[in-house]
Amino acid sequence: MNVDGKKYRTIWLAADGASVEIIDQTKFPYAFEIVKLHTMEDAAHAIRVMQVRGAPLIGATAAYGVALAMRADPSDASLHAACSALLETRPTAVNLHWALDLARKSLLQVAPENRAAAAYTLAADICDEDIAINMAIGMHGMELIAEIARTKREGEPVNILTHCNAGWLATVDWGTATAPIYMCHEGGIPVHVWVDETRPRNQGAFLTAWELGHHGVPHTVIVDNAGGHLMQHGEVDMVIVGTDRTTATGDVCNKIGTYLKALAAKDCGVPFYVALPSPTIDFSLSDGVREIPIEERGGAEVSRITGKTDSGGVETISIVAEGSPVGNPAFDVTPARLVSGLITERGVLAANRKSIAEAFPERVKIS
Ligand code: MRU
Repeated sequence: MNVDGKKYRTIWLAADGASVEIIDQTKFPYAFEIVKLHTMEDAAHAIRVMQVRGAPLIGATAAYGVALAMRADPSDASLHAACSALLETRPTAVNLHWALDLARKSLLQVAPENRAAAAYTLAADICDEDIAINMAIGMHGMELIAEIARTKREGEPVNILTHCNAGWLATVDWGTATAPIYMCHEGGIPVHVWVDETRPRNQGAFLTAWELGHHGVPHTVIVDNAGGHLMQHGEVDMVIVGTDRTTATGDVCNKIGTYLKALAAKDCGVPFYVALPSPTIDFSLSDGVREIPIEERGGAEVSRITGKTDSGGVETISIVAEGSPVGNPAFDVTPARLVSGLITERGVLAANRKSIAEAFPERVKIS
């Protein structure tokens, strides 16, 4: 995507042909800073501290992490150690497992002296594939938005609510939930996005709003609790969110708070769509609520908040009564029965085992 006239992906091979560059997402929305990853440990650190985040980008960064490890030491032991270390970084997004499984299986077939080159190629392929997938999701999602647009008066926007950041910053480019939005915007279909701020880390207010603003997409940031009210009053035409892991049965795990939006959408008759790239499907799981590991993050994300002061400095302040314990589950699961459709690269699917298996038969066989 373009930032101030320059085209960026969220991760790319540096000019030296060995290290990898990322956009440091912990600095948003106050600064746009690029960070260089020189080692596998740098890649693991970037995922752990959320300099990169979002399921597809976590997978792509892990793949480059393996490449950096293979460059330093291409032995079997180093490959296994790198995959184990990277796997430890974050528990919920299955793209991490998917990318590391792919890397481990394919690189074990390659002689050690050729492994570094093969690992860099694999990481680049994963990035290119992510972009192709997101563009296909964009095309399919655009049809859903266009259908709603046809019911509106000329020039009246389709109001789409999204939660967290499933935008280009969460992927290599385009985003998943945002790909249909960007395509509609570019194609002249008027859209307006309700952006949930997404406490505690504010990915909506910090990242999604920044992205949409930079691309001229009309949007409004709302507090996480506003969605239900807006839906009751006909101000939301559809919801589109991303996902960190979706079961073979269509249960969807995404940023904490997504489930409540799905409940409100069901009650108000608002279609609730999930943009789902196939690497995010975990074919080994059937019951999302019981089986998907939910990341529990540090309490400081809840009890403290970072923002820009009126004098221009960035400050972190405490917002919880001193001594009160806090809890911080980072994701929740929306059961398939609340999902109107899964927007995948192979079309819009019903959220059930049969439709998912029919669309991705080759994945069902190998898992
Ligand atoms: O904790 P994060 O910021 O990694 O969580 C990201 C999300 O929940 C996204 O919505 C999800 O990864 C989909 S990204 C296309």
